[in-house]
Parts: sequence; C-alpha cells; structure tokens
Amino acid sequence: MRLAVANHPLITHKLTVLRDKTTPSPTFRALAEELVTLLAYEATRNVRVQEVTVTTPVGEARGLALSEPRPLVVPILRAGLGMLEGMVKLVPTAEVGFLGMVRNEETLQPDIYAERLPDDLSNRQCFVLDPMLATGGSLIAAINYLFDRGAVDVTCICLIAAPEGLAAVEAATVGREVTIVVGAQDEKLNEIGYIVPGLGDAGDRLYGTV
Ligand code: PRP
Ligand code: URA
Repeated sequence: MRLAVANHPLITHKLTVLRDKTTPSPTFRALAEELVTLLAYEATRNVRVQEVTVTTPVGEARGLALSEPRPLVVPILRAGLGMLEGMVKLVPTAEVGFLGMVRNEETLQPDIYAERLPDDLSNRQCFVLDPMLATGGSLIAAINYLFDRGAVDVTCICLIAAPEGLAAVEAATVGREVTIVVGAQDEKLNEIGYIVPGLGDAGDRLYGTV
C-alpha cells in the first residue's frame, strides 16, 4: 500500500474549518468538495495516460491524454457523495459508479446495501471516495469488492484517517496495487470507533441530519 498524507497549509486550513463543530452544512459541503480537488491532484499522479500529438497555431506539440478504459470514480454512499463533484471537476471524463455502505455502529462491521458499477472492471483504475477512514472496515470491503470484479489498481481519497484503520487496510491489501491519499492522519479511534479529534459523523455533517 502506498500512503500519501497531504502536507500543505491550504489543505490543513480547510480541514481545520471542516473539523470545527460550529461549521454549518453548506460550508462543510463546499469545503469537502474543495479538499477533494486538492487531494485528487496527488491521487491522480499515476493515472494512465498515452502520448498524443496536437497541432497548435504554431506547430506540432507532443502531450498526454487519459487512456482508455477511463478511470472509474466510486463514491461510497452516503458521505462519499459529498466528494464526487470535487473529483469530477478535475477528471471530467471519468466514469462514475456507486457503492452504498453503512457501518453497523454496534459491531463496526460494514454492510453493502447498494451497488451500481460496471459488471466488468477488468483492467480498470478505480478512485474510491470516502471522507472517513476509521477502523478501515468499509474501505477494505470496498477495495475487495472492486478487485473481485477485476480492477487492477485502486486509489482511495479520504479526508481524515485513523492510524488503526490505515494499518488494517495495509494488512488486508498485501500484494495489491492500493494507494491511500489522506488530508490528515489523526491520533486514534475512540471506544465507539470515531476518529479523534476527527470531525464527527461526516454523513450527518454533510447532509444536515444533526
Ligand atoms: C462512515 C464513513 C465511512 C465509514 C468509516 O460511513 O463515511 O464509510 O463510516 O468507518 P470504518 O472505517 O470504521 O468502516 P457511515 O457508515 O457512517 O455511513 P454514511 O456515509 O451513510 O453516514
Ligand atoms: N464515520 C464517521 O463519519 N466519522 C468517524 O469518526 C468514524 C466513522
């Protein structure tokens, strides 16, 4: 597993406002979107490209174009949906598939309740969006699901991760092409599986159910 923790004052500044419990949902949504666009820059560092030539008004220029098959972006519902616009702003030609997952708050085990993805992910590069990597259970289930369908490499963009969750993802993905890009690595999980200091329940804060 390759781990990239963002180290940029603008990202930390936006995360700080996101963490603040007084930040209202509309601001939270706008910041989540902006943060993904900034993190996507690092996450797409190894996106597959091919060489192309275009004709400028002055001559021929060699450059790059995204290769086929197009990257597949997979937001994990519900909270990952708050990251989708920020990602497709940067990669507008990406295909988008959806995975609905919810963590059972007693057992902390993830459950997949919805799926809308291409059947065959052979040779696809996937970009998973989920703001919170806590125990890692949800992300591990999502990563396994995509590899079982044929994906060849999976990059996950998370806003905040707990060290326990990162270690769990690393142990569960040995030998697989997995990259995790996070805005911040926090201190720990608390006794009910929340990230400390974290930002609370990302889905509730995005969609105003608190
Ligand atoms: C949150 C979050 C992750 C998961 C992380 O989703 O968006 O998907 O918890 O926890 P884990 O690393 O311990 O699995 P939640 O289950 O609360 O669903 P929601 O997005 O619908 O709010
Ligand atoms: N899910 C969240 O939304 N927040 C946490 O801190 C942990 C899981």
